[in-house]
Amino acid sequence: MITVGGFNSSLDKALDLEILEPGTVNRARDARPYPGGKGLHVAATVAALGEPVCLVGLIDAANRRLFEDRLGARGVEFHGVESADPIRTCLAIQERGTGRVTEILEPGPQLDADTRGELQARFLSMAAESTLATLSGSLPGGFADDTYAALVSALRDAGVRCLVDASGGLLRAAVGARPFLIKPNRDEIEAVTGATVADPEAALAASRTLAAGGIGVVIVSLGAAGAVMSDGVQAWHAWVPALDVRNPVGSGDCLLGGVAVGLARGLDLEDVVRLGVACGTANALSDETGWVRPEDIDAVLPRVRCHGVA
Ligand SMILES: Nc1ncnc2c1ncn2[C@@H]1O[C@H](COP(=O)(O)OP(=O)(O)OP(=O)(O)O)[C@@H](O)[C@H]1O
Ligand SMILES: [Mg+2]
Repeated sequence: MITVGGFNSSLDKALDLEILEPGTVNRARDARPYPGGKGLHVAATVAALGEPVCLVGLIDAANRRLFEDRLGARGVEFHGVESADPIRTCLAIQERGTGRVTEILEPGPQLDADTRGELQARFLSMAAESTLATLSGSLPGGFADDTYAALVSALRDAGVRCLVDASGGLLRAAVGARPFLIKPNRDEIEAVTGATVADPEAALAASRTLAAGGIGVVIVSLGAAGAVMSDGVQAWHAWVPALDVRNPVGSGDCLLGGVAVGLARGLDLEDVVRLGVACGTANALSDETGWVRPEDIDAVLPRVRCHGVA
């Protein structure tokens, strides 16, 4: 079992517009609500790869059924901790005319201490029984920046590897707790190290610095340029050439799901990053955000190029 913490659940809406004109009235052709949030994308990817997975996240009464049904249909066991206030809504505005996607992300409800405590306790009790655990994304209101750091430390004491994909103060504090793995993108690693990451070589230098500081594995995802990975001793660059990209939002989440499965299966690190990049890329090739299809992963995996970097 892999336990996924995705506390700041979201009801995502994809708005289909010809073109977005800021400052005017824009009418959407279509609006489809679906369960979202970074942890949910990770969990759905793990399930798509056929591994048992549970997702611990916030839910409200109005959306519990939708989340349980959609996640259950994909093979994810959902542990929804109920909030009195509604979960957030996140908009992805997709322009047909330009292909651009504009995201507007709400912060999430303000939680009382009991609800915050229940999310953390549920995550820790599920994770303690798991092969490994992941923590993804932002947190609802009321959580401190050291929340992920504290969960990482508790899991290390319990002998459970924890993978973290976060940004800002949450990521900075988590790095101090030395998780087994982190997966920043370009902006996130620049914010943590202060170094400019303009190309895969710079990403590798930054990832080596962090790995040398005690994090087991650092994967920096670089969008179309793929991802680099270092365990402090060896390093790899993995990518897929020549792609027809449709919607890359959530690709980092899907990458983390693939990496979690690779680690849980005990694959060599090179094959772990291959599987991660295959999942991230498969997501980018379809319109849906963060709901990757098994047949797309199978189709992309043989096309992943990966080489060791000295
Ligand atoms: N435009 C793209 N073309 C090809 N592959 C892509 C593209 N965007 C993403 N990918 C694949 O997905 C992986 C993760 O993407 P990215 O670096 O954009 O993550 P991210 O910024 O964390 O995304 P998110 O937070 O929205 O999930 C990349 O390492 C790459 O393998
Ligand atoms: Mg990301």
